Amino acid sequence: MELFNEGQVIFYAEDKQLKKAGVFFNPKREFDRDLNVLVVSSLISNKSAGLELFSGSGIRGLRLCIESNKFNKFTFNDIKSYDTVKRNLELNKKRLLSTDKTVNNTDATLFESSSKYDYIDIDPFGSPVFYLDSALNLLKRGGVLAVSATDTAALLGSAQKACLRKYGSVSLKTSYSNELGIRILIKKVIEYGLNHSINLVPILFNFEGNFIRVYFKADPSKIKPSIGYAYQCYKCPNRVTKALLKCDYCGGRMHKIGPMWLGSLHNEKYLNKMISSLKKNRMKFSDKASLKLMNYLNAVLSELPVFSYYTTSEISSFLKQPEIKISKFKNRTVLSPKGFRTKNSFSNLIATLDSKQSE
Ligand SMILES: C[S@@+](CC[C@H](N)C(=O)[O-])C[C@H]1O[C@@H](n2cnc3c(N)ncnc32)[C@H](O)[C@@H]1O
Ligand SMILES: [Zn+2]
Repeated sequence: MELFNEGQVIFYAEDKQLKKAGVFFNPKREFDRDLNVLVVSSLISNKSAGLELFSGSGIRGLRLCIESNKFNKFTFNDIKSYDTVKRNLELNKKRLLSTDKTVNNTDATLFESSSKYDYIDIDPFGSPVFYLDSALNLLKRGGVLAVSATDTAALLGSAQKACLRKYGSVSLKTSYSNELGIRILIKKVIEYGLNHSINLVPILFNFEGNFIRVYFKADPSKIKPSIGYAYQCYKCPNRVTKALLKCDYCGGRMHKIGPMWLGSLHNEKYLNKMISSLKKNRMKFSDKASLKLMNYLNAVLSELPVFSYYTTSEISSFLKQPEIKISKFKNRTVLSPKGFRTKNSFSNLIATLDSKQSE
């Protein structure tokens, strides 16, 4: 066991990032936990109740309690690391005086409680779908649900059968598969919410290689969920969200993907709240962390509200040209360093690029 420090917390953990490690801790997720602190600080009321179903070392829950100062009650649960979480709470006890803490070691699928929570966190190994019922049984109206998934082979289209089995959707390996994964995950969580009569609105996502995390707010107002399909041409990069049997650019057959969430991947109102909390920085982020968060939120906010992005590689190779520089495109995406979004149809995009090329 090693002693670590992240944000304003010191804690014991094993830096192994392996399933078989005694106490899981992944130092590479620091930005994700910074973002988590910011989401909670901005969206949760004072004196709230929080539940972390997969605590690992407890670092995430500890940071949420100490840095956001929003919880007067917090439950840490992990099937494996009960003693370490207890030890880490003791280590940070002076900063946790205003929080009533409970530590559990229940299997998250069976987790029950007599009271409900304003914030619930699902951060398992693999897919979160098996734990959504436990969480949604306990989520208060107006509460925030955080859901992580690391089963990216399924969500991003490499393991299509697994995706169909777990998420009820067809995914596909494409240049924008991470967006498909996020949209399929959102659809599944929203569907579970509806089974529990909870309307879940996606607020913000974070994608880091083999890790997807999405925040939802249980919104009491009824908004019609925007769930549907996308159609990707087998022969060219064209993709659309209206049903097409044949590509309207090259006539190729279309591959039907989904069902998935087709609405916005972020919520402008809540992102603006996060930006204004960050400007006040009551969470005491370092300058470096603060700048990274601000850049990320501004980049997400400025993304064009369209389905999927193209990459410069796929477009250049389709046009059989040397790679076009990404700096030529205004509407970038946080989902790929070579990705850009456009409101143009594929035909118009190609026409515009061709005319620029011939100038
Ligand atoms: C990805 S780690 C959690 C990381 C932590 N949230 C963080 O940010 O550092 C997943 C954790 O889930 C725990 N776990 C695995 N299966 C579980 C189950 N069925 N119920 C509760 N905990 C479980 C593991 O012991 C592991 O600590
Ligand atoms: Zn085509």
